[in-house]
Amino acid sequence: QRHLLGIEPLHPVEITAILDKAEEYAALNRSAHKQSDALKGLTQINMFFENSTRTQASFELAGKRLGADVMNMSMQSSSLKKGETLIDTALTLNAMHPDLLVVRHPNSGAVNLLAEKVNCAVLNAGDGRHEHPTQALLDALTIRRKKGRLHRLIVAICGDIAHSRVARSNLILLGKMENRVRLIGPPTLMPAGVAEFGCEVYDDMKAGLQDADVVMMLRLQKERMDGGFIPSEREYYHRYGLDAEKLAHAKPDAIVMHPGPMNRGVEIDGTIADDINRSVIQEQVEMGVAVRMAAMDLLARNLKASRAGEG
Ligand code: CP
Repeated sequence: QRHLLGIEPLHPVEITAILDKAEEYAALNRSAHKQSDALKGLTQINMFFENSTRTQASFELAGKRLGADVMNMSMQSSSLKKGETLIDTALTLNAMHPDLLVVRHPNSGAVNLLAEKVNCAVLNAGDGRHEHPTQALLDALTIRRKKGRLHRLIVAICGDIAHSRVARSNLILLGKMENRVRLIGPPTLMPAGVAEFGCEVYDDMKAGLQDADVVMMLRLQKERMDGGFIPSEREYYHRYGLDAEKLAHAKPDAIVMHPGPMNRGVEIDGTIADDINRSVIQEQVEMGVAVRMAAMDLLARNLKASRAGEG
């Protein structure tokens, strides 16, 4: 692949290759010397048109640990504020010869559009409600490490499915790897057409969580609700917030995941989020750096090979 724009175009063999490479980087990140020279001499530009803590920090750290020159564009103070378009901004940066562009954008499809206009590798760091491929890959790595496999598991993805690029990328990846995916949430937050992905749909948490191996909670993404129906947080927590009573319906060794940012007392009880026997939320963050190192390493190899072929 030239870019990493989504999970949809990836073959299971490619997914496994990224996870295996990420395992190597997870070990490196735990060592005293965290450096590699996989991206030495290459330039990485991070363009975040939407807020981020985990994804932006881990892409920056990943690039630096791989030896790249990393530049974080401050989109708040860029010439976008003077009316420059996304494409003109991208073409301007492209003229500076970056090798890797990491892009987060509030509009679905914006990163794919940008990738058509530049001649470097583009990594999607989340576009609207479309895809967040590195999040799904880091979730997959976390599941594989905790459960010892990434197939024939029952994975319950719970909450605001309709507005979630994390849910979309995860259900595509987990389906490709032959897991049973259950989507649980209020009908108002369930997108039409999810059945075509082979998911089971529930509006009752206890029924949906029955015998689940993995429980993945999602935030209410109010910023994407466009003036539509927003449930009251109190009522939402009562029906869909993960507490000990609801979690008791999953398998006794079920793991609890959350991509962050997390709203305690809305979609998840804080004591469950902090329970080191069930919650793997901090491990997800740790795997985020390793997966982003792996993805950039593998894309850089493809980039170097295609440039060598052209030369
Ligand atoms: N999970 C995730 O994308 O978090 P950030 O918005 O903080 O990057």
